[in-house]
Amino acid sequence: MQQSHCKNYKGIFTPSYFEDKQFLISGASSGIGAYIALYLNALGAKILALGRDMSKLEKKQQEATHKDRFIPITKDIAQVEGLDKWALNLAREYGSFSGAVLSAGTQQIAPITSVLSVENARDVFATNYFGNLALLKGLLDKRAKSEQGASFVWISSNASIKAQKGLTSYAASKSAINTAIKSIALEIAPTYRINAVSPGFVHTEMIDSWSSIYDKHYIESIDKAYPLGIGKVEYIAPLVGFLLSAESSWITGQNIVIDGGGSL
Ligand SMILES: NC(=O)c1ccc[n+]([C@@H]2O[C@H](COP(=O)([O-])OP(=O)(O)OC[C@H]3O[C@@H](n4cnc5c(N)ncnc54)[C@H](OP(=O)(O)O)[C@@H]3O)[C@@H](O)[C@H]2O)c1
Repeated sequence: MQQSHCKNYKGIFTPSYFEDKQFLISGASSGIGAYIALYLNALGAKILALGRDMSKLEKKQQEATHKDRFIPITKDIAQVEGLDKWALNLAREYGSFSGAVLSAGTQQIAPITSVLSVENARDVFATNYFGNLALLKGLLDKRAKSEQGASFVWISSNASIKAQKGLTSYAASKSAINTAIKSIALEIAPTYRINAVSPGFVHTEMIDSWSSIYDKHYIESIDKAYPLGIGKVEYIAPLVGFLLSAESSWITGQNIVIDGGGSL
């Protein structure tokens, strides 16, 4: 980078970098998606914050730096029929998007020798893969007029690359993301980009909802097993911000693992 360019640096680390940007964020009512939404909003972005629970979304809106640029919207994305058209209509109503973060997800711990069933595997895929895919399809429709250079980030998981017992359906749904983004990246280049981000164990409401398994001892053991310790939502958001920004304009179709070395 030339010095003159550095001198007039205006990038991701400049406050207000995203002030002319609008992002759709699924899973914005909780955990990783909520933190990313608040982080991008603090950098000036207008956020269409998607979740199922309006009261949780409204609480996040109260925490937002620019409350008038944090729009809560409820939608159950597991109901995929017509969801792509719904997303397209969001672009018609709110104006074109600069990208999206697909963070809505559900976890299931279901060993194949006991509780796993094809029906509950379908439920996991319905949200993690098909629902987010339909949102993406809506925003990639020409009529959505997504901004030139728009960038999309789909939240996968390090469970997709490092085996763990009981995560058959969850890990498979995340592997589907890692593969899908490669084909999509080829189709949408050079106008748009898409990447996956694969976090390791991050303490969120998703983890708390499995507290009978992810108890205090389990969490302590993960903290010890990960070379850089257990994850926090704060670690994930800057990477996502970078991938959404023009600073990463030569990166597409990649699955970027961010797990404190947990999968090494
Ligand atoms: N936490 C981890 O250790 C970890 C590790 C790797 C990857 N991930 C991935 O990161 C993403 C976020 O996880 P998290 O830990 O932040 O989970 P979380 O706190 O449980 O949040 C999940 C979010 O997804 C939304 N959601 C779930 N099902 C939905 C549906 N059918 N329709 C619309 N929204 C739906 C929830 O909305 P409502 O609450 O409003 O229903 C919530 O906003 C997920 O894709 C997860 O697989 C998490």
